[in-house]
Amino acid sequence: MSNDFIPQMRPLFGAPEKAELMAYLDEDGFFTEFERTAAFERAIADYCGARHCIVVNNGTVSLTLAALALDIGPGDEVICPNYTMIATPNSVKLLGAQPVFVDVEPDTLIPHPDAVRAAITPRTRALMLVSSNGRAPSQASGGIEAFEQLARDAGFALIEDAAQSLGSVYADGRHIGRAGAIGSFSFSAPKIISTGQGGALITDSDELADRLRRLKDFGRARGGTDIHDSIGFNFKFTELQACVGLAQMRQLPERVTRKKAIWQRYQEQLQDVDGVRLFAHDTRLCTPWFIDGRFDRRDELAAFLKAQGIGTRTMYPPIHQQKAYGLAGSFPVSEAIGRDGLWLPSMIQLSDAQIDRVCAAIRSFYR
Ligand SMILES: Cc1ncc(COP(=O)(O)O)c(C=O)c1O
Repeated sequence: MSNDFIPQMRPLFGAPEKAELMAYLDEDGFFTEFERTAAFERAIADYCGARHCIVVNNGTVSLTLAALALDIGPGDEVICPNYTMIATPNSVKLLGAQPVFVDVEPDTLIPHPDAVRAAITPRTRALMLVSSNGRAPSQASGGIEAFEQLARDAGFALIEDAAQSLGSVYADGRHIGRAGAIGSFSFSAPKIISTGQGGALITDSDELADRLRRLKDFGRARGGTDIHDSIGFNFKFTELQACVGLAQMRQLPERVTRKKAIWQRYQEQLQDVDGVRLFAHDTRLCTPWFIDGRFDRRDELAAFLKAQGIGTRTMYPPIHQQKAYGLAGSFPVSEAIGRDGLWLPSMIQLSDAQIDRVCAAIRSFYR
């Protein structure tokens, strides 16, 4: 058995990406977003079943643009989970809006609708619903429909931070990201497909799509004009990223299948190990992006695995305890994940033999 280091994550780029890039370089040299970017947007929209897709630099500014397109700004409150990547609250905090944190459920790592309801104030303008690791809200808590209903009843916008959820669907078959007014994805290096950096927004609303396109392009109504009737940033994509993205999108169906098989193999080998509690996934719907679990003596385990040449990554600490936010409050589930949550090697190119090596090392640690 090989003792080569097994990283927790590594993006996978190869011959298909190289071929796309070379073909483009033989054809054109502008690099700035154009036909390849439009084709990449179409590929994502078609895959998700959305009317529009707009790609931007990353999955953080995508959330900021979503909030801006929905007229969210200073004085507004946006409900966010206390367990998420810090980009979720940052994306509205930097706009001058106030993220309001709620704890998550221990099985899905998504807030319960009741927790969201309790956090609503007259200033609530949106909920950032993060489908953590491709999971949908539990059916027992009313599924995604409970959040759609809540947003309608309370009159706020549902923004889906689906950064980790490309390849995952809700129980009714809709791709995650389609239930909200706007859904957001990330193509950063660790994601199921990557463009190095990158993000995408999906929506079925022509009006929101138009606003988002303007916001990412200096407020322009269309390319090639310097006449502006609105203001905007420059969050445009590049053709080089789109070339990589197009090649990656073609691999997405097989990556979805492989990600599910990776989780299944870990699950089979670790389900009876005392001290290990992998989070559950319904792989008929969910494509596990990372192998996530809670582990007794987590830090000791991580050090033990590292010594065996196996990389891991601790799951996100609770946002309220991050120095950047430093808020009071009790959030037992996200606090517990901060103490014992760990991601195991999860890259798409992980072989069965490598999974078996990781599982054998974990079993030996707890023996
Ligand atoms: C839930 C979530 N939201 C937002 C982001 C930010 O995406 P990006 O790194 O593309 O800015 C990430 C990235 O990991 C994420 O996991």
